[in-house]
Amino acid sequence: MNVADSEVVKALLSGDGHGLTDSIEDADVVLVNTCSIRENAEQRVYGRLGEFKKLKARKPGVVVGLLGCMAERLRERLNGDKANGVGQIVDVIIGPDEYRKVGVLLHKAWHGEKGVAVQLSRVETYDDITPLRTDGVSAWISVMRGCDKFCSFCVVPFTRGRERSRLLSTIVKEVEVLSLRGFKEVTLLGQNVNSYRDGDADFADLLTAVAGVDRSIRVRFTTSHPQDMSEKLIRTIADHSNICKYIHLPVQSGSDRILELMNRTYGSSHYMRLVRSVRDAIPGVCLSTDIIAGFPTETEDDHRLTLELMEGIRFDGAFMFKYSPREHTPAHNMNDDVPGDVKSRRIDEIIRLQKSISDEINQGLVGQAMEVLVENESKKSPADWQGRTDGNKTVIFPKDGTSPGHYVTVSIRRANSATLFGAVEPQSLRPVVRRMLSKESPMKAPAGIAA
Ligand code: 5AD
Ligand code: SF4
Repeated sequence: MNVADSEVVKALLSGDGHGLTDSIEDADVVLVNTCSIRENAEQRVYGRLGEFKKLKARKPGVVVGLLGCMAERLRERLNGDKANGVGQIVDVIIGPDEYRKVGVLLHKAWHGEKGVAVQLSRVETYDDITPLRTDGVSAWISVMRGCDKFCSFCVVPFTRGRERSRLLSTIVKEVEVLSLRGFKEVTLLGQNVNSYRDGDADFADLLTAVAGVDRSIRVRFTTSHPQDMSEKLIRTIADHSNICKYIHLPVQSGSDRILELMNRTYGSSHYMRLVRSVRDAIPGVCLSTDIIAGFPTETEDDHRLTLELMEGIRFDGAFMFKYSPREHTPAHNMNDDVPGDVKSRRIDEIIRLQKSISDEINQGLVGQAMEVLVENESKKSPADWQGRTDGNKTVIFPKDGTSPGHYVTVSIRRANSATLFGAVEPQSLRPVVRRMLSKESPMKAPAGIAA
């Protein structure tokens, strides 16, 4: 979400005539877009601001701006002298709904005036702004902002405000432009995409519209709340070959008592039923989740229920976190009573279990041929490409004969819990015409373009 937001900020600044530089030494302005979801995300920002302090000592004219959720959360303190002396380093503070003011505030900062803009909005979606993206294979598209769920541990409803959706028509337009630019994957983003609404159109309708723009573009989305995942949405994913068969469905805990305290509004049996209907409707679907260890009052029994749920479901992957108390959230008023060493042991057990499940699932794919979208050079070996399967598994394979943006068939030779390794099947090194299911409309050229 922050990557997508930064692209909006870059578009606004480029509209004002500013340019981008890769070198911090060349920069007149440094903006850091921040996350408040857990304490360690904020600690990393404090660390980074320390570097900017040194930069300012070398180059006194440079303007430093703090953007995003941390700006919103710490607004009073950042302006003063508290919060680790951040007030002395930062010249501009802009919350997630005030990015339109970035140009004006920077201008003032150059003239020595500090600026703060942290008003939350019920309507701001930046719908009219085309994010500034560099050409590539994958693009993020923010389709809704904010969250009304108020999970008791979560700071997002306080830092990003109320839920609001973009217009379906402008999202489809954006995908049409991305198609013309050669993008091959879009990920629709929202804190809770299932709450998407534009008049009568819900998120399933949006997915259908986006998937129909260009069948050679893969469509992904994140995140779904298990309470709101409709039958219609599940059917929509099943019915379109270019909507990826991958769902990120945060469960948070396997204990009904903890889920209730978390205000997640579902229990473990609802979650299990939902996973069963997803798997029945979408054969081969890959699932990932989020899990929090050590929520207030969590007992060994609660923890065991989480491990049992993980064993019962066998997620392909998981993002696993130690509970981190966030100011202003309801859980912050509960006693953070699970000792640090117990939290650490529980998260270790959760991570170890997930690793062994992911490893087993991935070993089962060895010998299979899988369609992979080639994305970029492998971070570890310049002789290899990295791509992903429809189910969001990372695949590494020798470069020969292909390049980013192409679909190839990779025969999987070995695997670990995080990655598949293989080789491209030579017969797949030609343009792939993606299979279309009978319910789909044929590939449509964007409006105004001759088919
Ligand atoms: N502590 C730990 N993890 C959290 N998350 C959100 N808030 C907290 C918190 N206070 C996790 C949840 C959520 C993911 C985005 O971050 O698992 O799904
Ligand atoms: Fe936070 Fe819950 Fe909203 Fe997700 S659904 S952003 S965890 S409040």
